Amino acid sequence: MCGIVGFIGKKQAAPIILDGLSKLEYRGYDSAGMAVFDGEKINVVKAAGKLKRLVELTHDGAEIKGFAGVGHTRWATHGQPTSENAHPHLNGKGTIAVVHNGIIENYISLKKMLTKKGYSFKSETDTEVIPNLLDYYYKGDPLEAIQKTLHRIEGSYSFGIIFADRPGELYAARKASPLICGKNDEGTFIASDVPALLKYTRRVYYIGEEEIARLTENSIEFFDVDASPIEKEEVEIKWDASAAEKSGYEHFMIKEIYEEPKTVKDTIRPRIKGNTVEIEELGMTDEEIKEVGGIFIVACGSAYHAGVTGKYVFEGMARIPVNVDIASEFRYRNPILNEKDLVIVISQSGETADTKEALRVAKQAGCKVLAIVNVVGSSIAREADKVMYTWAGPEISVATTKAYSAQLVALYLLAIKFAHVRGRITDDEMTSYIQDLKKLPDQIELLLGNREKIQHFANRYVAAKDVFFIGRGIDYAISLEGSLKLKEISYVHSEAYAAGELKHGTISLIEDGTLVVAVATQKDLLAKTVSNIVEVKSRGAFVLAVTNVGSTEVENVSDYVLFIPETNRYFANSLAIIPLQLFGYYVSVGRGYDVDHPRNLAKSVTVE
Ligand code: AGP
Repeated sequence: MCGIVGFIGKKQAAPIILDGLSKLEYRGYDSAGMAVFDGEKINVVKAAGKLKRLVELTHDGAEIKGFAGVGHTRWATHGQPTSENAHPHLNGKGTIAVVHNGIIENYISLKKMLTKKGYSFKSETDTEVIPNLLDYYYKGDPLEAIQKTLHRIEGSYSFGIIFADRPGELYAARKASPLICGKNDEGTFIASDVPALLKYTRRVYYIGEEEIARLTENSIEFFDVDASPIEKEEVEIKWDASAAEKSGYEHFMIKEIYEEPKTVKDTIRPRIKGNTVEIEELGMTDEEIKEVGGIFIVACGSAYHAGVTGKYVFEGMARIPVNVDIASEFRYRNPILNEKDLVIVISQSGETADTKEALRVAKQAGCKVLAIVNVVGSSIAREADKVMYTWAGPEISVATTKAYSAQLVALYLLAIKFAHVRGRITDDEMTSYIQDLKKLPDQIELLLGNREKIQHFANRYVAAKDVFFIGRGIDYAISLEGSLKLKEISYVHSEAYAAGELKHGTISLIEDGTLVVAVATQKDLLAKTVSNIVEVKSRGAFVLAVTNVGSTEVENVSDYVLFIPETNRYFANSLAIIPLQLFGYYVSVGRGYDVDHPRNLAKSVTVE
């Protein structure tokens, strides 16, 4: 996520902004910048790369004078991580400067409208429409211009705004992306998150949905989107700096699990137009989609597990043959590829060496390569023919959770698109799938409400030695990821097994009290999975079942059951994985491990 810091008061703004941005670096970013009003004009400094570049360019802020300014660390979403795309962005006259965190979903149409009105653009970003839209509406009243702008835009935003002809004022507004205000004897502040302000004040105000703030040297006023004044409670922050970086959560992993509803929503929304799926970045005509002979999905780790789900969904929905490969195997097995094959590589970091090499193997074979990536401008994103970004924001914890969930919904969207274009699903079926997709964020939210129940169960297995995850079809894919989550952060050995395969040897490992996690969401396979549960129970296993609400046949044969809300069978992974992520997390916490930095692991494996 991007980071915003603003200040207006009795002290030089630039050093305060740089200091605040440094406290937001943990959020992940790829460029930084700031705009400061020097009494006559707005001066802007911005650079790709890390904040220290900005510190060097401005001699720690000494070179850029002024008592009011806004700063930004950018996590690229639209447009490469370059200095041109870095924030702040200004209107053509340089009299309005804006920093933004979020996604302006209708920026393309706004850009077209403004271009027709004579506005020009320097960057590839969605954000740059904002200073120009403000300019378009500005007749001397910033509140009015902001209000009209907010009414025109769609998507998520938190803004910091300065107007050259309003030197004693700084404005802020937000919708869906957090933004807070603070005040002390030296001035007033805005920031994306608490850590940026702790050095200056612990008394903050949370700007609400579609609210606007006007800050001066010694006052903060709040308004609703219709510019009517509103009162706001001051909140005292009791967190220390470390807790503040995690928004009060104990670890980044649990914070990121709780971000999954928003991540799923952000990844789905820009690709649904009414009752159709539109994936502009796919860059394939309907004819080209119809010509795809087969699909290869290639990735590592959790991304590979998402790909296994993708196989079941693509083949089930679109009836296209799908091979799913671990990248380190794919790149050496001399795969049989032809130009009609589409290769989909999946990677959160976009830097995984094996996946990058697999991509190159596919391109050498003449295949079109689509990358599903979270980090904009990463190597894999740059080398792929097309990129479908997951809007998960920076994922700090080594164990992926929200990015994995975003990868799943990206695959669902692709499968729906392919299935519809290739005539495998009707308009009504597509509408129904889209309705199910839109329910996922709230359903995930509901599952997060079971946190205590899962923590209680996990505490009973803190000393576990061996755990088995079993499932059939998509439930097998879910088991793969559930098992990895437990292994990689709690160091408890576990295996994921296709439930029907257990009896061919591995079942000999089941002893009295062995924990078996049975994933049973696929209704057409329930009876078979129930018989596998009975099978392991007869050998002494303790069975934790993850199943659909109302599955009494599973509940009757299991020792402990975690229910998931009713959803489309193809999307069950997005729900069933939530309790399994929480289970792995709480076993690790129970064992006293450093959840976010598991031993021997890196967030991105950039070597073979
Ligand atoms: C996931 O929890 C692991 N940290 C790991 O398996 C990861 O998914 C894998 O290394 C692939 O990383 P990528 O998505 O950045 O390519």
